[in-house]
Amino acid sequence: MSNKLELTWVGKNEKINPEPRILLEDIEKSYGDPQTENMLIHGDNLLALKALESKYSNKIKCIYIDPPYNANATNVPFDDNIEHSFYLSLMKCRLEILVKLLKEDGVLCIQCDYNEMAYLKVLCDEIFGRNNYVTMVTVKTSSESGVKVNANKPAKVSEYILIYAKNKDKMVYKPIRIVTGYDKNYSQYIINPEDNYNEWQYANIKDILAQQLNKAKKDLKDEELRTFQIDNRDRVFSVRDISDSLKKYIKDNGIDKNIAYEYTTSTGKKTLLYKNGEIVFVKNKVYEIDGKLELTKIASDIWLDIPWDGIANEGGVTLKNSKKPEKLIQRIFEGFTDEEDLVLDSFLGSGTTCAVAMKMNRKCIGIELRRTMLFYE
Ligand SMILES: C[S@@+](CC[C@H](N)C(=O)[O-])C[C@H]1O[C@@H](n2cnc3c(N)ncnc32)[C@H](O)[C@@H]1O
Repeated sequence: MSNKLELTWVGKNEKINPEPRILLEDIEKSYGDPQTENMLIHGDNLLALKALESKYSNKIKCIYIDPPYNANATNVPFDDNIEHSFYLSLMKCRLEILVKLLKEDGVLCIQCDYNEMAYLKVLCDEIFGRNNYVTMVTVKTSSESGVKVNANKPAKVSEYILIYAKNKDKMVYKPIRIVTGYDKNYSQYIINPEDNYNEWQYANIKDILAQQLNKAKKDLKDEELRTFQIDNRDRVFSVRDISDSLKKYIKDNGIDKNIAYEYTTSTGKKTLLYKNGEIVFVKNKVYEIDGKLELTKIASDIWLDIPWDGIANEGGVTLKNSKKPEKLIQRIFEGFTDEEDLVLDSFLGSGTTCAVAMKMNRKCIGIELRRTMLFYE
């Protein structure tokens, strides 16, 4: 018995070593700038990856793959019922090449569902090293109201994205911001921000906005409040809780809680204390997203906000029951890539990954087995 912790299956150690092939350009289908490295490859991805191996090893910044979930789905246009050991062998030899293609600071993201997630996790631990496991994101892919009633188990509304780094110490992640609605915690408004903070006068944003719009507070819409927060981001704030020791400091020094008081922390950071808390302006949450100022929050490892409805025709391409929203891929690229980086999807399907890459000025290589998904004949 092997003395290391590993996943085993029938055929695991059988060598699958395809002959390297040469990629042939189909001149009729090529268009645009011949200097870009963008490529759509039609064929089995094992052969294609083997063909890419010598030129593209250590070149790819982000690989997103969305292989068949092996969920025995009959409503998808590809084989989704592969014998389990065979599925693992297929994935293993492809992942072994994919890891070589990644740059030292590159990442792999694999989308899957509950059927193979745990097996893919252990397989990737073995190939990337458990220490290079970054995280797993859970994505809500349908609404509870839209799922079919299944008497046997809770309805499936989620999928997973396993994220692995080639070398976690080198990987760079830029925190992803997601758009939120009106944030009721940011309810306070400074009437005279031009004055010194100890002369500030305060009001509730609902009182000010109701007055401005000449309507009752109860009739204010969340969208109106959200816009008000963004437009007044330098004077709308919330009072964040502070430590008990700071509360004691306020009490012991007889500081008036109703007047803003500047306090310098032990690290030299200046904060304004008010009402037994710290003033935090809403401007810290306002970011430009897709060219528009928005209220945002940092994305967690549960993505509930990406709309799946209405993506069937996104990009003018259909792929029944398997297509991923462009917003999802955009979020991954925002977090893990920069402009001009090279990205790859070896289970390209309808081409979502390449479409997003091109919109975001990333270079991309896409591989797909089924010709009908790649080309309009
Ligand atoms: C779940 S779909 C990917 C959907 C894609 N993310 C999108 O947004 O359209 C999986 C795709 O992998 C392709 N595929 C499966 N085995 C493959 C192989 N060995 N080589 C290349 N493509 C393969 C299937 O034809 C299918 O289009």
